Amino acid sequence: MLARPPAACKSNCGLRAHLRLTLAVGPRCGFAYEGAQILVAWEIPMKILVTGGAGFIGSAVVRRALDKGMSVVNLDKLTYAANLENLAGYDARPGYAFVRADICDGAGVRAALDAHRPDAIMHLAAESHVDRSIDGPGAFIETNIAGTFALLQEARRYYDGLSGAAKDRFRFHHVSTDEVYGALGPTGFFTEETPYRPNSPYSASKAASDFLARAWAETFKLPVVTSNCSNNYGPFQFPEKLIPVALIAALEGRPIPVYGKGENVRDWLYVEDHAEALLTVLEKGRLGETYNIGGWNERRNIDLVRMICTLMDELTPKNHAHADLIEFVTDRPGHDLRYAIDATKISRELGWKPSLTVEEGMRRTAEWYIANRSWWEKLRAGGRLGLGRNSRGGASRNAVTPDGETDPGTIS
Ligand SMILES: NC(=O)c1ccc[n+]([C@@H]2O[C@H](COP(=O)([O-])OP(=O)(O)OC[C@H]3O[C@@H](n4cnc5c(N)ncnc54)[C@H](O)[C@@H]3O)[C@@H](O)[C@H]2O)c1
Repeated sequence: MLARPPAACKSNCGLRAHLRLTLAVGPRCGFAYEGAQILVAWEIPMKILVTGGAGFIGSAVVRRALDKGMSVVNLDKLTYAANLENLAGYDARPGYAFVRADICDGAGVRAALDAHRPDAIMHLAAESHVDRSIDGPGAFIETNIAGTFALLQEARRYYDGLSGAAKDRFRFHHVSTDEVYGALGPTGFFTEETPYRPNSPYSASKAASDFLARAWAETFKLPVVTSNCSNNYGPFQFPEKLIPVALIAALEGRPIPVYGKGENVRDWLYVEDHAEALLTVLEKGRLGETYNIGGWNERRNIDLVRMICTLMDELTPKNHAHADLIEFVTDRPGHDLRYAIDATKISRELGWKPSLTVEEGMRRTAEWYIANRSWWEKLRAGGRLGLGRNSRGGASRNAVTPDGETDPGTIS
């Protein structure tokens, strides 16, 4: 019997048509055709609860999941890093719901789970900026560790209350970073077997959350799958990280800050490729497994910034080379030298590969920041922030100093 993969309705309504051909093997001639059957099935699209769905990567996951016909509940506290404009147009779709809640608040999470009854949780909510974790580690301990703990407890309570197909189907996808592995020397890659050696308060808090997710799987049998990804870039990235900082400084003709000598190496992945990888891990990943996600796109920071400058020379020519704006600034304490992901397992087991090279993705990103000035200008103007750079809570520190200078770009 041969079964073709189901043909899906173009509007993603959940209707699937399966064609089944029945072949019989005859004693002399090899085989004989017996018949064909068309089965029409109604597959209810998955409903996922995404924590941190108003952030950079979370919003890419929400957009992609909705495009695939899934329903999405976006649970977000709306910190400085969140921006509901990232979901403009998608927020009006019938399959989308928003819940403003803090993952540290068990009662709030419980109410959302009970009201929306998702098939899966994708946990992206986090404090995510390494520099902020140096200035104010408390918020990282609170959200990334205590928040993950509270969320796991509520996920467990919810999962224990499920039965039958709903229970079999449920997944908790814990989204993490390659920074938990620490720093590499000039050679080698992080694999799923690499021991954890986090070096910053951010990566230590993410490592702790990974261990919590693992323990909840082992001890309480919560169906967990984990992924650890390399550095993301692309549209809607908050303008405090290396690539938007460099692009915006280049656009405005201001100095482009590069830490140290720009020798640090990162493996860059376009955010939409990451979103696709995350949904692949959610749908196909084996329970209890970890999948490393990376772009096979290692670059030294200085080479990446030079690439951006060359692109900007082409896209927004000025009377000087953009590379003249590069300025080396004091390095971050404990700055990991090199990260590089071996993404063999996810491509071998789940068939995912990045679709873009860093050159292709960077062009799309630069074009987006050029075309969407109003998106980042509002954030830089400080309207949503405003606590100033001396705030003790690093997580709410302004990305723009009162005199209008952006913080140096960072690698997190
Ligand atoms: N950015 C990267 O390069 C990268 C790489 C690998 C992994 N990751 C991981 O991916 C996830 C998303 O990263 P990002 O860059 O999109 O982060 P982000 O900072 O852009 O967004 C984080 C989102 O989480 C929300 N949030 C923060 N604290 C919360 C809380 N207590 N309760 C509910 N919501 C809260 C914020 O409001 C925001 O919308 C994080 O877990 C991060 O560790 C990021």
